[in-house]
Amino acid sequence: MKFIRFLMRIVVYILFVPSLMVFIAADTSSISHTQSLTYGDTIVSYPQGTFELGFFNLGKPNKTYLGIRYKNIPLRNVVWVANVGKPINDSSAILKLNSSGNLVLTHNNIVVWSTDSPKAAQNPVAELLDSGNLVIRDENSTKSNQEEYLWQSFDYPSDTIGMPEMSPNPIYHYEFFSNKEEVYYTWTLQQSNIDASWVIYSALPADECDYYGVCGANSYCRTSASPMCECLQGFNPKSPEKWNSKDWSQGCVLKQPQSCKGNYTDEFDKYEGMKVPETTHTWLDENIDLAECKSKCLKNCSCMAYTNSNISGEGSGCVLWFGELFDIVMLPTGGQDLYIRIPASELGKDY
Ligand SMILES: *[C@@H]1O[C@H](CO)[C@@H](O)[C@H](O)[C@H]1NC(C)=O
Ligand SMILES: *[C@@H]1O[C@H](CO)[C@@H](O)[C@H](O)[C@H]1NC(C)=O
Ligand SMILES: *[C@@H]1O[C@H](CO)[C@@H](O)[C@H](O)[C@H]1NC(C)=O
Ligand SMILES: *[C@@H]1O[C@H](CO)[C@@H](O)[C@H](O)[C@H]1NC(C)=O
Ligand SMILES: *[C@@H]1O[C@H](CO)[C@@H](O)[C@H](O)[C@H]1NC(C)=O
Ligand SMILES: *[C@@H]1O[C@H](CO)[C@@H](O)[C@H](O)[C@H]1NC(C)=O
Ligand SMILES: *[C@@H]1O[C@H](CO)[C@@H](O)[C@H](O)[C@H]1NC(C)=O
Repeated sequence: MKFIRFLMRIVVYILFVPSLMVFIAADTSSISHTQSLTYGDTIVSYPQGTFELGFFNLGKPNKTYLGIRYKNIPLRNVVWVANVGKPINDSSAILKLNSSGNLVLTHNNIVVWSTDSPKAAQNPVAELLDSGNLVIRDENSTKSNQEEYLWQSFDYPSDTIGMPEMSPNPIYHYEFFSNKEEVYYTWTLQQSNIDASWVIYSALPADECDYYGVCGANSYCRTSASPMCECLQGFNPKSPEKWNSKDWSQGCVLKQPQSCKGNYTDEFDKYEGMKVPETTHTWLDENIDLAECKSKCLKNCSCMAYTNSNISGEGSGCVLWFGELFDIVMLPTGGQDLYIRIPASELGKDY
């Protein structure tokens, strides 16, 4: 049924709006800035048609998302979502590529989500690639040259993945890449599945601690512990009542909120085998060692944690975390050292 409906949409609709003509094309691999996408339309990746971009419905009452999903496998798993956390409550959303080359998703004329490419394009085109990457580029640019993309969904992964148990295997190949401008992982299947069906290799989240930020701010999660959430040293539950009834969402706050006055008297507690906090508010210097890293962190009262950026060999480089620390996990195996600020006011106290 779905497939038939889908075929019927391989038509170019023409819609007249007073003094404005908009072409809505479905089942192409791209949209240009004269076109738009509405509920039921899809963009299919080119040339193999592995992925499609479109609106889909999840939940009751209706929650509509713009996303990318597998097209040719009956269970069409979603791999990327644009309006994460901002579902649309009916099917009247419109996706347009505006003349400066940004995708803009609107609902009742309110912008729900948009891209933010820093450069304007002459003839922008948004295109879905067979890798599952949605890219915006100038029509005359080289299709395969990532450097020329104005924006790409691969820069905005929908979800987090902390995979300490990853090792070489016959199923997929993975690679870590890092340079001055970007850091990423790639996974590619060693062989594609000829049955067009899903086979479970590994399932995530694997345990309660895998859920993003489950313990709230300034705490860490340990599956084997009971309760599984614990405040970092120097912190107390923000809402002890909620915390004690296993609602950890409020997280923990400093026992002495104004304790750091830049006296450089704070210390750092070493936590081993950790999944480090999420890195939105971080600073990186690959050329300094751990001692310098510590002194940089100490000098700034909003720096709450530090560690090596590269844990290969002896360890090198420096990452600093500012503000609240989220999504820390104490792992049963693997993980790395993490140094977390303990305010001077907490030093020498018994825990
Ligand atoms: C849907 O969302 C719009 C705002 O975008 C709101 O005005 C409207 O009341 C909502 N409708 C329902 C049925 O919740
Ligand atoms: C929910 O979505 C379905 C499928 O698009 C549609 O038939 C139904 O009318 C929608 N309901 C509401 C309340 O928007
Ligand atoms: C295109 O959309 C972006 C993001 O909403 C916006 O910043 C930009 O001004 C828009 N450009 C035009 C020409 O409307
Ligand atoms: C594409 O065309 C624009 C405008 O003519 C030009 O500025 C740009 O350099 C061209 N890009 C390439 C890759 O040829
Ligand atoms: C920092 O130094 C000032 C001045 O000596 C002192 O009053 C204050 O208590 C110190 N703060 C901490 C947290 O040690
Ligand atoms: C501390 O670091 C934050 C984040 O990098 C920065 O905004 C702030 O200005 C720094 N404070 C001092 C005193 O250097
Ligand atoms: C990390 O450190 C190892 C060992 O010193 C080194 O071989 C590797 O190139 C470093 N990786 C990066 C991304 O700097």
